[in-house]
Amino acid sequence: MHLRRVVATRYAKRAVLIALAAAAAGACGDARGAPALKVEGGDAARGERAIAAYGCGTCHMIPGIREATGMVGPPLTAFARRTIIAGRMPNTADALVRWIRTPQEVDPGTAMPDLNVTERDAKDIAAYLYTLR
Ligand code: HEC
Repeated sequence: MHLRRVVATRYAKRAVLIALAAAAAGACGDARGAPALKVEGGDAARGERAIAAYGCGTCHMIPGIREATGMVGPPLTAFARRTIIAGRMPNTADALVRWIRTPQEVDPGTAMPDLNVTERDAKDIAAYLYTLR
């Protein structure tokens, strides 16, 4: 009984987030409803190297990164066209940087570990992910 209510609440919260994300995408996105993609201070070329250095590819399939063929986490294909990050947050640059740096804070217990990614590296990684359309 109790569990069912907890689960229902969780889904209700996600539904609200998804509605917010859809609204945000409509407000800031391009004509096709894609999210806003600018990462202030992010350098995609550095990000490509940082992704390899942090080993994100052991868990994720990431186009353009050699040996990034992991299947533990979701593939990060066409990330620029996603509206939601990890089923929780609207896909904005700030939220993506936050997720990359502190997934355990955003979603305690998620299978993605905190990897001590620096702010600069997270911005560069986000810039790279936003090149994937
Ligand atoms: C040990 C495995 C693991 C490693 C290493 C890892 N991740 Fe993840 N990642 C996951 C899992 C599992 C999820 C799904 C989490 C969820 O939805 O709660 C995820 C989710 C994500 C998402 C959201 C995906 C979506 O479809 O919304 C992004 C973006 C991401 N990871 C980026 C990275 C980056 C960048 C790195 C390297 C700095 C990295 N991950 C390293 C396991 C990993």
